[in-house]
Amino acid sequence: MDRLSSSPRLMIVSDLDHTMVDHHDPENLSILRFNALWEAKYRQDSLLVFSTGRSPTLYKQLRREKPMLTPDITIMSVGTEITYGNDMVQDEGWIEFLNQKWDKQIVSEETSKFSELTMQSETEQRRHKASFYVKKENAQEVMKTLSERLAKRGLDIKIIYSGGMDLDILPKGAGKGQALAYLHKKLKEKGKLPKNTLACGDSGNDAELFTIPDVHGVIVKNAQEELLQWHAENAKNNPKIIHANERCAAGIIEAIGHFKLGPNISSRDVTDLSDAKLDHFDPAYEVVKFFLFYERWRRAEVENHEVYLSNLKSVCSPSGVFVHPLGVHQSLHVCIDKLKDCCGDKKEEQYRVWVDQVFPSQIDSDTWLVKFQKWEQTGQEQQGCLTTVVVSSKGVKPTEGLTWLHVHQTWMEGTTKNSRNDWFF
Ligand code: GLC
Ligand code: MG
Repeated sequence: MDRLSSSPRLMIVSDLDHTMVDHHDPENLSILRFNALWEAKYRQDSLLVFSTGRSPTLYKQLRREKPMLTPDITIMSVGTEITYGNDMVQDEGWIEFLNQKWDKQIVSEETSKFSELTMQSETEQRRHKASFYVKKENAQEVMKTLSERLAKRGLDIKIIYSGGMDLDILPKGAGKGQALAYLHKKLKEKGKLPKNTLACGDSGNDAELFTIPDVHGVIVKNAQEELLQWHAENAKNNPKIIHANERCAAGIIEAIGHFKLGPNISSRDVTDLSDAKLDHFDPAYEVVKFFLFYERWRRAEVENHEVYLSNLKSVCSPSGVFVHPLGVHQSLHVCIDKLKDCCGDKKEEQYRVWVDQVFPSQIDSDTWLVKFQKWEQTGQEQQGCLTTVVVSSKGVKPTEGLTWLHVHQTWMEGTTKNSRNDWFF
């Protein structure tokens, strides 16, 4: 949050399961489209917030399975835990606030009296969240009786039903919406209230996100019945909340366009990237484009044509060097020659490449240092490298693209040894 010196241009607050992440798309196309758009056009001056029902344990698991970006802020356990940055530093103030009129022991005693409730796994029981499964047909009745009983015992709680099966019991002041309101208040105090906020969701626990003042909202196409019902009863005529025509992250991109919140064309939607010229230098955009080309090359989605490689060579300095994460260094031109051998080598596989946290900084009048994480996923396996690139605008026009002078990579923690032998860039 502190990396921005002024108000973020856009703050996206998105649910994960069935909103940012489409569990019915093994190719992960919509999230990858969103990633390319975010890194090229928003990362530097906007805030990405993930707001999930998952505990930290299940959240981290999802990150290992899907091509997810790193958010600036993570709201987990249905708005009961807020963390900041890559180190996921807890917001202690929020924890303190949620302690009011909350006693988990009493919640356990009262819930144990309902045979309709089945406890969720141990990882999903958190300090300010008790979670169960309950059948749709029993949900309303259980929620009503349980809230009466807990109120009688002096607790101030809320019960949320999501996905037609999950029942969460939280302190009254908790929840995804309240967590967002809390963040808005904090940002405002620092003079950094976002110019626009877009909330994105698909199920019951997302409903309160859409009740926060001045928030645009998108209910993705594939939303759950309970959220559609909430929309029909509470927000049908509210032009700031739309039910998208597109599924999951594609619905988020659709909403960015619908509300005119900024650029809404992902580089992934551009077939011929060599046509996508700019009228100004944009290092983040060039990094996104380069690795998208690289993915397409290895998936054989571009023709194995000399022209592409010579174009690529023409934007690399002849004295440019690539320091491979294995510690070997080579001329950039030699590396590009080597790409000939890997055209289409991932054709039959679910192979994807994306970049995360692309941060360019201008180091002199015509040079930028761009830092980011570059990731590859083949099937279920992810590999990543911390990457630094130096690019220069000396002697070139924006339409020609920046000149790459240096690329340096280091394996990210967790990348296994046996998956490192076909890493070209
Ligand atoms: C996630 C959590 C679960 C919760 C559900 C709905 O699936 O893991 O505990 O009940 O979201 O909020
Ligand atoms: Mg969801």
